[in-house]
Amino acid sequence: MNRRKAFRSLAGFLAASPLARGQKDIPDTRERFPALDELVNVFEFEPLCKSRIPKQSYDNIAGGVDNEWSLRHNREAFDHISFRPRVLVNTSRMDLSTTLFGTKLAFPVLIAPTAGHQQVHPQGELATARAAAAVNTIMCVSNNSSYPLEKVAEATNAPKWWQLYPAEDDTATRGLVSRAVSSGYKAIVVTVDVPYLGHRERPLRGTPRVTAVRESSRGKRADDFPPHPYGLQARPASTWDWSYLAKVKDWAKTPVLVKGILTGEDAELAVKHGADGVVVSNHGGRLLDYAPATIDVLPEVVQAAGKRIPVIVDSGFRRGTDILKALAIGASAIQVGRPMLWGLGAYGQPGVERVLHMLETELALAMGLCGKAAIGAIDKSLIRMERY
Ligand SMILES: Cc1cc2nc3c(=O)[nH]c(=O)nc-3n(C[C@H](O)[C@H](O)[C@H](O)COP(=O)(O)O)c2cc1C
Repeated sequence: MNRRKAFRSLAGFLAASPLARGQKDIPDTRERFPALDELVNVFEFEPLCKSRIPKQSYDNIAGGVDNEWSLRHNREAFDHISFRPRVLVNTSRMDLSTTLFGTKLAFPVLIAPTAGHQQVHPQGELATARAAAAVNTIMCVSNNSSYPLEKVAEATNAPKWWQLYPAEDDTATRGLVSRAVSSGYKAIVVTVDVPYLGHRERPLRGTPRVTAVRESSRGKRADDFPPHPYGLQARPASTWDWSYLAKVKDWAKTPVLVKGILTGEDAELAVKHGADGVVVSNHGGRLLDYAPATIDVLPEVVQAAGKRIPVIVDSGFRRGTDILKALAIGASAIQVGRPMLWGLGAYGQPGVERVLHMLETELALAMGLCGKAAIGAIDKSLIRMERY
């Protein structure tokens, strides 16, 4: 990258950025915004995104709840797992591809559902979906996307999943599921870990609370619910039990995954009630503080369900080595949440693609250095769990 090219890239970026649209409150302390190919890891996208978006949007995305223990621990827990690398294995031909519910992915990393991508970029989910298609992976589009689910579906022909927060009444929920299925979404991911909204303190300090732009046809907003005796913000999930899953399966007729599993017992129940897959997730540390790091509970979930249905995991994945550890424990794939928003906010669609490619390259390197040439060759013997 020569200086001229870097300058041209900066100028192009600035022209498209919110700064050029007169949002003067956005802090930008850098002398020069780096070109995309100057970045060396996923973490570097976060401050760049932060410098481009309003503070309240950044706080909303970055924050956890309460003491943010789960948010920190999602990362720290990876430090307690090391590798048992094998040598003198021919890894000259590598293949990171994997297949989930009949869809072949270039590498086992999916885009987690996150609300309101327009918070960080005007193209929002349309750009994210195009990035997923460009790198051959699956985007799971949030129930609370900025763009209607049909518009995101139309953005590319690539297979996508849709995440459901069921509404209070079944007719509305059924309508949403049927819109998603008829728009071509290949799987429905029901998020079950939000019976109440978590206490995210960062966005509450100093600035009005940010809520993502929501689809017009979704159910009531949290604020519309009757007042809770303890002042909690109740969501429809606070009234469900496991029998709800059968309804969603009946409406969807696609694979249905359950997102928000953190114990072997619930993984067992998910299988019993017909889930086609589970997503081990603590919602990126945004709901219950002191919910365990997902990499710590992945072994018990895999033990309970892994032989029967795919186990996907998210929360805190930022490195190829993180991904390799999860695959070694038995995950079929991992998802990334915030890094997608960092890439999108900082550079638009190319930023999302670059974050995904970085993870792919880091995973390939870690596999190569561990003597693994294919995803199928990765197993538990590859890791040492320091804590277990
Ligand atoms: C800003 C933001 C919005 C989110 N919105 C949703 C959502 O609409 N539906 C959902 O199931 N999960 C949502 N999540 C949780 C993600 O799907 C995922 O579990 C989490 O981001 C993974 O952790 P990570 O951000 O550390 O990668 C959201 C997370 C963030 C950070």
